[in-house]
Amino acid sequence: MESTMKLPLLGLAFGLVSQVALAANAAPALQDKQAFIDHLLSQMTEAEKIGQLRLISIGGPEMTREKIREEIAAGRIGGTFNSRTAAENRPMQDAAMRSRLKIPMFFAYDTLHGERTIFPISLGLAASWDLNAINQVGRTSAIEASADALDMTFAPMVDIARDPRWGRTSEGFGEDTYLTSKISETMVRAFQGKSPAERDSIMAIVKHFALYGAVEGGRDYNTVDMSLPKMYNDYLPPYRAGIDAGAGGVMVALNSINGVPATANTWLMNDLLRKDWGFKGVTISDHGAIKELIRHGVARDGREAAKLAIKAGIDMSMNDSLYGEELPGLLKSGEVSTAELDHAVREVLGAKYEMGLFKDPYVRIGKPENDPKDTYAESRLHREAARDVARRSLVLLENREQTLPLKKSAAMAVVGPLADAPIDMMGSWAADGQPKHSVTVREGLRRALEGKGKLLYAKGANVTGDKAVLDYLNFLNFDAPEIVDDPRPAAVLIDEAVKAAQQSDVVIAVVGESRGMSHESSSRTTLEIPATQRALIDALKATGKPLVLVLMNGRPLSIVKEREQADAILETWFSGTEGGNAIADVLFGDYNPSGKLPITFPRSVGQIPMYYNHLSIGRPYTPGQPGNYTSQYFEEPNGPLYPFGYGLSYSTFALSELTLSTTELQRGEPLEVRITVQNTGKLDGETVVQLYLQDVAGSMSRPVKELRRFEKLMLKAGESRTLTFTLGEDDLKFYNTQLHHVAEAGTFNVQVGLDSQDVQQQAFELR
Ligand code: BGC
Repeated sequence: MESTMKLPLLGLAFGLVSQVALAANAAPALQDKQAFIDHLLSQMTEAEKIGQLRLISIGGPEMTREKIREEIAAGRIGGTFNSRTAAENRPMQDAAMRSRLKIPMFFAYDTLHGERTIFPISLGLAASWDLNAINQVGRTSAIEASADALDMTFAPMVDIARDPRWGRTSEGFGEDTYLTSKISETMVRAFQGKSPAERDSIMAIVKHFALYGAVEGGRDYNTVDMSLPKMYNDYLPPYRAGIDAGAGGVMVALNSINGVPATANTWLMNDLLRKDWGFKGVTISDHGAIKELIRHGVARDGREAAKLAIKAGIDMSMNDSLYGEELPGLLKSGEVSTAELDHAVREVLGAKYEMGLFKDPYVRIGKPENDPKDTYAESRLHREAARDVARRSLVLLENREQTLPLKKSAAMAVVGPLADAPIDMMGSWAADGQPKHSVTVREGLRRALEGKGKLLYAKGANVTGDKAVLDYLNFLNFDAPEIVDDPRPAAVLIDEAVKAAQQSDVVIAVVGESRGMSHESSSRTTLEIPATQRALIDALKATGKPLVLVLMNGRPLSIVKEREQADAILETWFSGTEGGNAIADVLFGDYNPSGKLPITFPRSVGQIPMYYNHLSIGRPYTPGQPGNYTSQYFEEPNGPLYPFGYGLSYSTFALSELTLSTTELQRGEPLEVRITVQNTGKLDGETVVQLYLQDVAGSMSRPVKELRRFEKLMLKAGESRTLTFTLGEDDLKFYNTQLHHVAEAGTFNVQVGLDSQDVQQQAFELR
């Protein structure tokens, strides 16, 4: 076993590769990145170069670990993903150190919302509107992942999602461009820390570039067709924000864009990303995406697919053998130039350099004697942070007659298929999170009540009664069935829950989606809670007991009927390892809920797409004034069930009139928007003040409003505070039909509120 520590130190600052591999002909100093990489590149054979572009999955059926080590030692693999411990990664790095040039490997993983400690899913994080909390998630994830020898995460995922049928809605930060952009930069900085080279940092790979959230019909992997202004104004900024915050890499989307797959899209990957945006990092294809160019119908065969991808600027190929198989022939024939190959290799080496791997290939692997005795030890978790962030992500949707908070002295029944479902607490893409570490809702309530109130439990219903859906969901998890189905008849399950309800003062029904329902490839045609669970809710309602719905889901659900049935509704997403404790904190008032929806909840699937910042239209629907020939659906009420930015608290907050520092803004000058917010309730609490802008008349139709600022603040009962938001010309800019980024003269409305609809408004003119 080799380690840097055992090597003779020839030069103080130089690591393994700089000493050993480059000693032959006066290697440049490691500090000089460009020269160092140029020199290394000049020593590489064509096969070694192609090897660097290969990123492969660990644990897949394609290759045994022994074979992987052989390939690494032969210089035929550049990086791997899906391994999770130092003990797994060390032998692979040792193999790289046996290779001719000793170019270090990197080890990546999908660490999206935690590595061992699982935080709420990304959509839940966005619901916190709390960048400090989100920073803590990114930092903690990086600390945990790097402690287990990971160098890179395929995150943040910043695809704007406006069609909740799409299962990956759960993985992103919602529908809004500004909120997602803020979170994107926060996450990138948090993952990468002071620098991606630090021992406790991991490199961020922003994904999926680009527009993956706009797949037609919300059906995963489908095509995307979008106008350029919409792309530039709404969908691209979050990727750009992550890149501007220093993300080391970009993962390429699986979809096509206006007919050209992202993986073969020269305009996207070269013109926009590299030339316009000045991106300097590594680009990584998604899983098998180069080969999929054949099925997209843009490549005749593997050879053409590899050629298209490398020419488009795809540096690394993920789990795809085509670069290895086809690049030698393409180089030989001159169809791909050495310069094109070198460009890709340079980016991979550059990323490794930035991750500090040339300085010390074992920087995150460490020494064997320091490996944790138990990878899954309780002491390795960050439970306090997980509980704190989870509480902030919960959104109180309804609270009639102050049903919540509950008294700990009450007798209560907790029912529902998700009440005691450890795996579902974690949500999808839960890295190496362990179900056994999850605090379920039932367990969280039990702990909170210890010795006080009475808690009864009944499952009440299966997640779904549809055998085909059940089989689909259980197929998703290779290791174990995701969903434990209770074989008893539905009526028996319901009866048990009703009996528990009848013996209680209040019923808490934990219902919604299992985590696999909001997952990659899990698109839905309905947004309803599955029928088995709806029947349970009906039966519980019939008992006449106060009914609290605790929703678990990774997308907006259409809950028109449930909204009427429930006395209180708490949206909890998939809230992570500490979710059950966090939910109990809110249900009992130990934490006053403060989350706000990062995505619109439609009434029904038929209203999709429904998002708050749509363009102005000629015949808008006016609430309260229905009529023919306006833009509406005639069978049901129009408008959302819950709007973007909405969420209640146990306190009430009041906003003063807003004032503007001027009603005539000169270019280059700041506009100050002032508003006072008061906690008019009896409890201390947090709320989110949201500022929206509307460009009333432009050279093209503009959104009815767009989020431009927000601030989450804590106010004691009775306390008030004046907030000042400063806007500048840049905040008024948009991409026009010529894609010029302009602030056009005219009237702008400033709207401030505690959600996107209930707002105060003032206007100003831009000269
Ligand atoms: C997903 C990516 C993910 C990759 C590696 C793909 O199926 O689309 O988001 O990073 O797998 O796990």
